[in-house]
Amino acid sequence: MMVLLLTVGIVFQLSESRVTCRNDEGNEVDWYILYKLPLGDCSGLSYLYMDESTNGWKLSRNTIDSSSGTLANTLEPLLDFYDRQTEGFGYILYNDQLEKKAVSPSFGHSKGLQLMYIHPYAYDHFIPKTFHMELQNVAQMTGYPTEAPWFSVEGLTSLGGNYFSSFAKYTRFHDDLYSGLIVKYMPESLYVKGWGNKGGSVLLMSNCSTRIPHHVYNVKKVQLWKGLR
Ligand SMILES: *[C@@H]1O[C@H](CO)[C@@H](O)[C@H](O)[C@H]1NC(C)=O
Repeated sequence: MMVLLLTVGIVFQLSESRVTCRNDEGNEVDWYILYKLPLGDCSGLSYLYMDESTNGWKLSRNTIDSSSGTLANTLEPLLDFYDRQTEGFGYILYNDQLEKKAVSPSFGHSKGLQLMYIHPYAYDHFIPKTFHMELQNVAQMTGYPTEAPWFSVEGLTSLGGNYFSSFAKYTRFHDDLYSGLIVKYMPESLYVKGWGNKGGSVLLMSNCSTRIPHHVYNVKKVQLWKGLR
């Protein structure tokens, strides 16, 4: 089964080697996924963590706003930059306010283009002049695709040699991300847990149409960690 997750913020830089994913202990990891738990059983600040070594989700002892958790450890170069204007460092912090969107777990120079498609709301950024102009445009929200195709699929290889696929679509794609794009690249059916449309009545439906190569199933409930839903 495949679980797709959305992301809210990405930081990147292009020349400093110190920027890397770090776990709760501050050690370098090739990739990780954080899932912040909703308000409910917890404060709304607890999070689940997964990387290659954890064999699935584990509940972090930290809260997402902790100064010693995965997020703080990974964002340390950014905090350093705020303090010391580290040279050759650039970043975009963005929020995807769109309902459904592709994930780019990490990206380098050219992969910044992927961001054009999702037209993110960049609430903070600093792009040095030596960086690609496209990144500058994306940060200022003036960069977006001007001709078809209205989607982009990119392969990303991590330092550890893991291969990721990044899917992005622009509003003019006018089709669903999962049934209209991702499923075409999948060897089997896709199980999707979307955010739904909060407060509204429009929820993503399963799609078993013969017009798409595999089925897209709408997952209604995921049990991520013992009692937590
Ligand atoms: C299934 O997905 C395809 C591609 O997104 C779309 O054209 C079609 O309308 C969908 N069918 C249903 C029943 O939702």
